[in-house]
Amino acid sequence: MSYNLLKGKKGIIFGALDEKSIAWKTALRCHEEGAELILTNAPVAMRMGEINKLAEIVKAPVIPCDVTSNEDVLNLITKTKEHFGGGVDFILHSIGMSVNMRKGKSYTEIDYGFNAKTLDISATSLHRVLATAMKLDAINDWGSVVALTYIAAQRVFPNYNEMADAKSLLESVARSFGYYYAVNKKVRINTVSQSPTRTTAGSGVKGFDGFINYAEKMSPLGNASSEDCANYCVTLFSDMTRMVTMQNLFHDGGFSNTGVTTEVIEQMEK
Ligand SMILES: NC(=O)c1ccc[n+]([C@@H]2O[C@H](COP(=O)([O-])OP(=O)(O)OC[C@H]3O[C@@H](n4cnc5c(N)ncnc54)[C@H](O)[C@@H]3O)[C@@H](O)[C@H]2O)c1
Repeated sequence: MSYNLLKGKKGIIFGALDEKSIAWKTALRCHEEGAELILTNAPVAMRMGEINKLAEIVKAPVIPCDVTSNEDVLNLITKTKEHFGGGVDFILHSIGMSVNMRKGKSYTEIDYGFNAKTLDISATSLHRVLATAMKLDAINDWGSVVALTYIAAQRVFPNYNEMADAKSLLESVARSFGYYYAVNKKVRINTVSQSPTRTTAGSGVKGFDGFINYAEKMSPLGNASSEDCANYCVTLFSDMTRMVTMQNLFHDGGFSNTGVTTEVIEQMEK
């Protein structure tokens, strides 16, 4: 069902890898709500070819961009402006990668080179995108930027590794840049802290099945799905949330404010 919430709006969606990706679902919902899109992902992810299926459905050009490259980000923003004949109204940053996790290094033994790469891909990239967009005046007045994060930025989840540090930095960049972009151009910047979700990035976390089942039992509404997350992002891109900025918004079925549930207590009593 469409409410035309994004009719006439233009946006960039980072991070649609396959049908499970939160960015994929968000692109579909933005399209249904009337937005025009540019899709982008790292060149290496594009070789899988999946993104072209999405591009056909949402009728969007695909522009490759490794978010750790200044040149790639500059090229993406420049080409986006050319394509739309002006700026965009929203951006979704749906990007995350833990190099240490991938290489099997635990948090107490991380490789600092891998760590720097993780922080660059998963957090500093938001700064790079925003700084480039500001320089090229590529986000329209009252535009909206959303980056996806996880509650490991505030609480310890052992196997989340250095991604916890990356998410803390990401949330801080959203807050700090949110100040400047609000004053400068009335652009709002928020992070959405999503429930654990079965995607390629999510499933990379050791013990993910236990993790997701526990969160389900600890959330009064249950875990939020990627479709729910897409809907929430649509509202944040819409004009209905114009005064929300510099926030970390929990989208987790109540998990973040729950001490324990009767379901978990019953399980512990067995
Ligand atoms: N899945 C979960 O449980 C969960 C929970 C909370 C937050 N998140 C966050 O949601 C976001 C999207 O992840 P997802 O779960 O949809 O998984 P996903 O694997 O589908 O998406 C991650 C994306 O990051 C992209 N990426 C990696 N390196 C890149 C680079 N150098 N340049 C450009 N793009 C790059 C990948 O190609 C991929 O498309 C991430 O920030 C993730 O941390 C996920």
